[in-house]
Amino acid sequence: MGRQRVLSGVQPTGSLHLGNYLGAIRNWVEGQSQYDNYFFMADLHAITIPHDPKTLAANTYTLAALYLACGIDLNFTTIFVQSHVPAHAELAWIFNCITPLNWLERMIQFKEKALKQGENVSIGLLDYPVLQAADILLYQPDLVPVGEDQKQHLELTRDIATRLNFQFGDPKRSILKIPEPLIRPEGARVMSLTDGTRKMSKSDPSELSRINLLDSPDQIRNKIKRCKTDPIRGLIFDDPTRPECHNLLTLYTLLSGQTKAAVAVECQDMGWGQFKPLLTETTIAALKPIQDKYQAIVNETGYLESVLRQGRERAGEIANQTLKQVREALGFMNYPA
Ligand code: TYM
Repeated sequence: MGRQRVLSGVQPTGSLHLGNYLGAIRNWVEGQSQYDNYFFMADLHAITIPHDPKTLAANTYTLAALYLACGIDLNFTTIFVQSHVPAHAELAWIFNCITPLNWLERMIQFKEKALKQGENVSIGLLDYPVLQAADILLYQPDLVPVGEDQKQHLELTRDIATRLNFQFGDPKRSILKIPEPLIRPEGARVMSLTDGTRKMSKSDPSELSRINLLDSPDQIRNKIKRCKTDPIRGLIFDDPTRPECHNLLTLYTLLSGQTKAAVAVECQDMGWGQFKPLLTETTIAALKPIQDKYQAIVNETGYLESVLRQGRERAGEIANQTLKQVREALGFMNYPA
C-alpha cells in the first residue's frame, strides 16, 4: 500500500499569521514525511472578497516562499498555485449543480464574511465552500489538516462527495474518496491579541490583533507589549473568564516547544510584566529561522518559479484524472480523439 495522501491550502490574502502557522502549516510540516502531500496557494479563493490585482500575484509568491521557509520539504510534498490547475474551477462548476443552495446558506464563515461586506457580497463568497470541496476532492486525499474554523467546510466537502457518489456512482466503486479532517487540538484556534474571544484573522482591521510570520522583532515587541491582558497575577490555562491568559500561554507553549504541564508550572506565579518579555523573546526566536530561510528563497532568482512549474504539472496530472472520472460518471461527451 502506498502512503496516505494529504492536501491543504491557505489563501494568499495579507500576511500569514501565527494562527495559520500553528493551526495549519506547522502540522503539515511535522507530518509530511509520513505522507504524500499536496499544499497549494488558494488564489481563486482570495478573490471572493474585493481584492487588489496589483498584489494578488505577489502575495501568492510570498505565500509559496513561506511554505518552504516553514519547512515544507519537496521530497515529500508538491506545492502549487490553485489557479494554475484549471480543473479546480471546472469541478467546482459541476459540484455547483449538485449542491443544494441551503447547504451553503448555513455556512458560518459565509455569514460572518457577508456581514463584513455589507452590500458587496459576491456569489463567489457564497460558493466558496463548493470550490473548496473541488480543491480537496480532485486529489482524493485521505486527510486534510486544517484549523478549527475549517471544520464545517470539511463536513460540506464530505457531503458533496457522498451525494455525487450516491447519484452517479456504482455502489461497488465510489467515484470520490471521502476525506477526513485532521484538526490538532493544540493551536487549532489561535485567538486575537486584542480580544481573546475572537480568532486571530487576516481580515481583522487591526494589525495589533495578529503577529505575522514576517514581522520584525520591533513589531513583535510592540504587539505583545500592547496586547490585551487582565489585572490578575498568576497565569493559568483553561479559565473561561481569562481568554487572553489562556491564549497567550498557549502561544508560549507552542512557540517554546514545551509541554502544557511544564508551562503551567513555570507561569503559575508570574505577573504580566514578567511573562510578556518571555513571550516576546520566544516568539522572535521561533520566527527567526523562518524569516532567514524566507529571505534566502526569495533572493534565489528562478528557484520558486521552477518549484511551481513542477508543482503545476504534478498536481494537474492527478486533478485531471479525477475530473475525467467525474465527467464520465456524469455522462459528458468525450474529448474528440
Ligand atoms: P485560511 O487562508 O483562512 O487559513 C489557512 C489555514 O489556517 C487556519 N487558521 C487558523 N488556525 C488556528 N487559529 C487561527 N486563528 C486560524 N486562522 C486560520 C485555517 O483553519 C486554515 O487551515 N478556505 C481555506 C483555504 C482553502 C483550503 C482548501 C483549505 C481553500 N481550499 C482546501 C484546505 C483544503 C481558508 O480560507 O483558509
